[in-house]
Amino acid sequence: MIESRKNDHIRIASEYNVEEGNNLFNEVHLIHIALPEMDFDDVNTATTIFNKRLSFPFIIGAMTGGTETAEKINATLARCAEEFGIGMYVGSQRVAIVKPETARSFRVVAENAPTALKIANLGAPQVSRLDEKVLSDWVLQAIDMINADAIAIHLNPAQEVFQPEGEPWFKGVIDKLRFIRKVANRPLIVKEVGNGISMEVARALVSRVGPDAIDVAGTGGTSFIRIESIRAGTTNEADVFSGWGIPTAISICEVRSVYDGVIIASGGIRSGLDGAKAIAIGANAFSMSRPLLLAALKGYDETKKFIGKLLREFRIAMFLTGSRSIDDLGKVPIVFGPTIISWLNQRGVQCRRIRRGE
Ligand SMILES: Cc1cc2nc3c(=O)[nH]c(=O)nc-3n(C[C@H](O)[C@H](O)[C@H](O)COP(=O)(O)O)c2cc1C
Repeated sequence: MIESRKNDHIRIASEYNVEEGNNLFNEVHLIHIALPEMDFDDVNTATTIFNKRLSFPFIIGAMTGGTETAEKINATLARCAEEFGIGMYVGSQRVAIVKPETARSFRVVAENAPTALKIANLGAPQVSRLDEKVLSDWVLQAIDMINADAIAIHLNPAQEVFQPEGEPWFKGVIDKLRFIRKVANRPLIVKEVGNGISMEVARALVSRVGPDAIDVAGTGGTSFIRIESIRAGTTNEADVFSGWGIPTAISICEVRSVYDGVIIASGGIRSGLDGAKAIAIGANAFSMSRPLLLAALKGYDETKKFIGKLLREFRIAMFLTGSRSIDDLGKVPIVFGPTIISWLNQRGVQCRRIRRGE
């Protein structure tokens, strides 16, 4: 049952157009610097997240595990993570905890990426119903399975309500997140899955959980409302909620306005330039999922080519903004378009752009 759902997600995300909304990076303008006062080779894209050095601030997004196809995808992505010296999330590991015979599909990540930054993953609704003893066991199993450096818990209320066999259980999640942070003994990342995180949610996380990172996973890329509706065979409600959520660029500004820790930007990021924009407006790193799924289904060479192109685009964006380092990129002049300005004004949000907590 869980395994067939995992294969459905891979199949639907790769065969259908499941991207919706606008992440509003088209309204983030980086100012061109005609005189960068350095050579292209002087650009240093490296950064450090959770004490791990990354060759550039990129993390392969959380996607899959639990099936044979997922194992191949995870192995391919992990090889690339190791090769490039970047980070990698795995998909939700619940499947491997309730069906240990599927754990191999995750273990390949530790085997193929022994030194890369690896991030374990569980879903908030599932952990919300576990007592503390079982929860602590799940968290430690998920971490051990991939020798994880950090653990992510995903918040996915929209996905759960649209999923035919969904579990929209969010009561008590904050207390469980606080408990996970204590037992994991690793940084805790709280992430969405494509509908964004508001400043209100970030504020609640700051005051009651103290997460080490927030991955905004905003609107403008993969839509789980669409994916689950295609699985359910009826897309009427999905049409009503098409584009629901907080655009990624805005979610970064909202979260940064109340949170000083690590922000990972994701949700519709499709180029190294989008990634550079995310960092310029306050994120520490960026992540991408669906395009890497499409590349990984084509194999290792294709995935390597894809990430190489992403890195080059990111480096060009740094050069053309005169950014010698990631710190410089966080300070470049920016101009926002009218939708972002109006949104931030109405929400009383100041774009703070500080980047601490690395
Ligand atoms: C096939 C597929 C499976 C996913 N499974 C998970 C998951 O298990 N856990 C999770 O936290 N996010 C999951 N996601 C969500 C992604 O991590 C990401 O938040 C979302 O796809 C938005 O990024 P994108 O627009 O770059 O795809 C999945 C995404 C895809 C495409």
